[in-house]
Amino acid sequence: MIRLTCPGCKKIFKVLKPRTGLRMSCPYCTRQLLVPRSVQVEAEKEPNIFWLLIKNIASPIVLITAIVLAIKDVPGVVDFLRWAFANAGANGQVTMVAIAGIGLIYFAVLTMKREERVARLKAERNLLEQRLRSKETELKQIEENNFRLAEEGVKEDIWRRDVIGPPLFVDKEKRNACFISLLNLKGGVGKTTLAANLGACLALMDRPLKVLLIDLDFQATLSNMSVEASTLLTAQRMRHTAERLLDPQLTVDDFKQLLVGINQVANGRLIIADDSLERMDFQTQAKFFLKPEHDARFLFRKILHQREITDYFDVVIFDCPPRLTTSTVNALTTSDYVLVPTKLDERSFEAIPRTLAFLNRLRSIAQPKIVGVVANEVQFWRRPQLLKVHERGMVRLKEILKATDPDLYVFEAMVELSTDVAFSNEKNIVPCVDTDIRQAYFHATAVELRERISK
Ligand SMILES: Nc1ncnc2c1ncn2[C@@H]1O[C@H](COP(=O)(O)OP(=O)(O)O)[C@@H](O)[C@H]1O
Ligand SMILES: [Mg+2]
Repeated sequence: MIRLTCPGCKKIFKVLKPRTGLRMSCPYCTRQLLVPRSVQVEAEKEPNIFWLLIKNIASPIVLITAIVLAIKDVPGVVDFLRWAFANAGANGQVTMVAIAGIGLIYFAVLTMKREERVARLKAERNLLEQRLRSKETELKQIEENNFRLAEEGVKEDIWRRDVIGPPLFVDKEKRNACFISLLNLKGGVGKTTLAANLGACLALMDRPLKVLLIDLDFQATLSNMSVEASTLLTAQRMRHTAERLLDPQLTVDDFKQLLVGINQVANGRLIIADDSLERMDFQTQAKFFLKPEHDARFLFRKILHQREITDYFDVVIFDCPPRLTTSTVNALTTSDYVLVPTKLDERSFEAIPRTLAFLNRLRSIAQPKIVGVVANEVQFWRRPQLLKVHERGMVRLKEILKATDPDLYVFEAMVELSTDVAFSNEKNIVPCVDTDIRQAYFHATAVELRERISK
């Protein structure tokens, strides 16, 4: 399109498609005129068809987008803009410059804001880092404090801490069940063998007693000896094990689920032990160490002295490990009696004063009576005469006990060293279920025990 001025009337009019040499008339004065040669040049400068498309069809958004992309250095976009600029004509060029200007201002504002945000975030990060450093110092102090506390704790003997409102020790006379701990701080003296076999004897006697054995040694010898492997596995899988006795929330109904029957001993029940007991022992002790209100010493008593349990069972026997564990302490704070098995050799004698001193140390929280010391693995020259070495051992044992406490009792009955006992232990059978073995090796001790606990 061009603008022509009529040489006659001097008015300006538009020609849409001018061609050089085109004859036309003025729309105002109708004078005939030719499109001059100079106009041809202007007509050829008319924007090309793509530019017209961009200008008329594509919106300024396309331009803005292109400018944005150019600022972002997208390849080829700058070339496109250059081409568009060259073809835009004067008005288009002004528009593009204006849009580019606005775009630049917009981006400058955006960049400023982003930098502000980055600066703010950096400042926040610095502040947090500073706080973290100060917390780390505090944490280090707490850690050091804990170490010092642990050092003091070792000196403290937490088992003798003051007792605040423990669950009541129900008097022996006011309940049916009586509680016996088999204890000796030496391993291999026969605690487990006696727990299993005396328990079975008491449950299989004429006038049988209802017996509960509780395995407190995570080595689980008593458990393996007394129940089928499959029963053991099921109980372990269901966590029906002795560690649960250390749970302060344990109810009588939960407790009943822990009981498994003993092989061929109708009146016998057992609570098995496994590895989890060691972890629980330590965990409970650690909790008590850190927080005295989580008293770890009377958890067995809390559940076992409940009427429903003491009415049902006549005798409860704890097979203690040869160590001071939370479970051992709990067994002692629950027990009426302690039975100490020993062998008649010097290495076993060494453990007796240690065991008695251990009991003394816990006197403020546990007062079980030592029902007696039982000699195990004795050998006879000719019944009732002991081998000379064991006869001397017996005299020595009595001397050691007398030196500690003249009232300490030594059982008349002794348990003979026997391959029957050793083999049946290995085969995981309670030997007492065999009437002959029972009569020969354990019956007399069980009868004497029964007398001494008045059952
Ligand atoms: N009277 C006995 N005759 C033969 N072997 C015995 C006798 N008493 C215990 N034993 C064996 O001695 C080992 C240790 O006995 P155990 O009862 O496990 O001791 P503790 O529980 O004190 O560690 C076991 O192999 C057991 O079979
Ligand atoms: Mg044992």
